Amino acid sequence: MRLGNNERRMLKAMLSDSERFWTLNGILSGTDWEDQAHVAGAGKALEEAGMVEITESTSKTVFLGQEGKKAANDGLLESRLWEWLKSRDEKGRSLKELMSAGFERSETGPGVGILKGLGVSIDSGILVVSDEKEISEEIEKRTNFIQSLSDSPQDSSDLDQEMLSHFSSRGGLIEFEESVSRTWRLTKEGANVDESELSEVHMIGELTPEILQNDSWRGAEFKPFDVSAPAPIPSGGRRHPMQSLIERIRSVFLEMGFSEIEGDYVQSAGWNMDALYIPQSHPARTMQDTFYLSDPRRLDVEGHYLDLWSKVHEHGHDTGSKGWGGSFDKEEAQKALLRTHTTVNTVRHIAENPEVPSRVFGIGRVFRQETIDRTHMPEFHQIEGIIHEPDANLPMLVSTLKTFYAKMGYPDVRVRPAYFPYTEPSAEVDVLWRGEWLELGGSGIFRPEVTEPLGTEWPVCAWGMGLERLAMLILGLDDIRQLYQPDLERLHRMPLL
Ligand code: PHE
Repeated sequence: MRLGNNERRMLKAMLSDSERFWTLNGILSGTDWEDQAHVAGAGKALEEAGMVEITESTSKTVFLGQEGKKAANDGLLESRLWEWLKSRDEKGRSLKELMSAGFERSETGPGVGILKGLGVSIDSGILVVSDEKEISEEIEKRTNFIQSLSDSPQDSSDLDQEMLSHFSSRGGLIEFEESVSRTWRLTKEGANVDESELSEVHMIGELTPEILQNDSWRGAEFKPFDVSAPAPIPSGGRRHPMQSLIERIRSVFLEMGFSEIEGDYVQSAGWNMDALYIPQSHPARTMQDTFYLSDPRRLDVEGHYLDLWSKVHEHGHDTGSKGWGGSFDKEEAQKALLRTHTTVNTVRHIAENPEVPSRVFGIGRVFRQETIDRTHMPEFHQIEGIIHEPDANLPMLVSTLKTFYAKMGYPDVRVRPAYFPYTEPSAEVDVLWRGEWLELGGSGIFRPEVTEPLGTEWPVCAWGMGLERLAMLILGLDDIRQLYQPDLERLHRMPLL
């Protein structure tokens, strides 16, 4: 084992008297250290190296408490009472007289108790003393005990144990302080170390630009890190865990070659739903599920899209589909709402770039009329993405999602058949967490009813998943609300992402 400079210095000091049981002060003066932490640290390392043996002994120091100091000055309550008693004739020693004898109110009750304990009895209100000498001696003993502590604290083992236990049971008179004292002694192995090997070396604990520039690192030794040493937990400012998670997801997608897109919270029902071939009668479109706005109540949508969506919804147009039937309401498509999913962003991105192959993602807030509970909030985030290119296909979608989750630290991903009005095939994405499959999002290939009106004939792999779900998983939370409560204590304890 390599010894550090502190260990070398301590060992060298101890070798000057290799049989001695060294105390803290002995080592401090032998090493010229001022800080006892050096002794504790180096001593521990030497002990681990088998060169030093540490003996610990606990001692209890006794000193006067608040009441004890008063008693040392003014006399113990029993001795003051005793003086009073002795100054009166036997008939004058009544409880009634005692009340008006100048003792504090709080003293008379306990005082009588103490006197009884000393052998004083009460006979029709009169305090009766049987053995005066014995009581006097006991009180003197107690007084001496308190006096002996008033000069300086004492080690409990040096004191009269009977007195010690008596005063321990009376409040505030004496107090204890426990302390551990150690001695250090060389083991055989330590005593055999050759002193000439103990010269201190120049150790580098921290590499600075200066050290690298001035060559002083040549010939120096590098101090090894003790990664198991206890260290304080730094408590500076930090990003909110949701924000760190968003940053991490962003960098994973960027790493995978995706670009980021954004979109507005306020959208028309047309882009949020009709473009996705969600039938106008779909239950999710009702006021109970979607926040429709009163200002603006309406958003203009280009007639060109309204015409195409009408045809697709009513009879399928030339997508090969039969459509939903019924009649499409263009006014309904121009109602303003708060977006219910970020799929609206990717769809609009395709409409704006129908001829450009793209891999894009977006992270954003979405809004749904949900009752708040452990797993639901009316506002939450989604992570959305598409691959829009001539050869996009299902295996590509699955492997992209698997790669994403693996990079986030969840290598076990499975997809299950699912249903969304805008994808075919559709798949639910599950991630394995602590032996359980958790549902994190939806995905699929956009149907022609979606892509044709947008102006593309390429397949589009699409997916969308809840960010809070993922956050709960990563942070080990079981209530979604914990993410947004301003509980700094809890936020501080959440793992760094
Ligand atoms: N928009 C769906 C949701 O909000 C997720 C999804 C996105 C599904 C893209 C399929 C394709 O849950």
